[in-house]
Amino acid sequence: MPTEPTPVSLSDFALWKTQGHKIGVLTAYDFPMARLLDSAGVDCLLVGDSLGMVVQGHDTTLPVTLDQMIYHTEMVARAAKRAFVVGDLPFLSYQVSVEDAIRSGGRMLKETRCGAVKLEGGTRMGPTIRAMVEAGIPVMGHVGLRPQSIKAIGGYKVQRDADATLADARAAAEAGAFAIVLECIPSSVAARITAELSIPTIGIGAGPQCDGQVLVTPDLLGSFEGFRPKFVRRYAEIGDAIRTAAASYVADVASGAFPNEAESFR
Ligand code: KIV
Repeated sequence: MPTEPTPVSLSDFALWKTQGHKIGVLTAYDFPMARLLDSAGVDCLLVGDSLGMVVQGHDTTLPVTLDQMIYHTEMVARAAKRAFVVGDLPFLSYQVSVEDAIRSGGRMLKETRCGAVKLEGGTRMGPTIRAMVEAGIPVMGHVGLRPQSIKAIGGYKVQRDADATLADARAAAEAGAFAIVLECIPSSVAARITAELSIPTIGIGAGPQCDGQVLVTPDLLGSFEGFRPKFVRRYAEIGDAIRTAAASYVADVASGAFPNEAESFR
């Protein structure tokens, strides 16, 4: 009889850092995909607000709401048998006040049963992260390129201010974040942060020396055909496969080849 896997817990992240286990993280937004990724052995499923772009079709993550994030995170958390599930807090659900952040993070944990939340920002978010952790909300940090600040940053580009990124990462770690995403920074900066911090770093466009890696799943599968950043490696061409399958179906319907006798009821 197949045995149920042991679910990944928060303490595994600290353990993995000491053991040198490279953490495999992927984004997920719905039940069936989360089931597949979980059964493939993905350590952590991030319900990223990237869904604003790769699911909803916006050109930034800014329009995504907390209710939408909760809707998607609940499905993913219900699907995951082993993977640790992190729900992203969207733009304006935590930046205005510490009270907002605790309320938003608390809703995410209560209504979705995910294991932790993620938020963007370092030095400025330190007091918020501390208050959330004290309130019992595990927080994953996110520094370097912060897509929720894209209007202020002025575009999706590599963040080269090493001192600022280092200070942000330190602030998030000191405030109690259990792990931190490093997005779009030079590998040397990510390596320095990874060596200094006692919490795991999860890189996306941050080179090979991070403690783990994360990719946006539709990028990795080739099902999102918008902008493709340099750091994405394609592991499949699902977009082509979907188009070919749909075109074959339409042709079969048009010719009368679908459905056949075996696919019909007597
Ligand atoms: O929203 C997201 O998917 C993310 C990852 C790209 C790290 O924040």
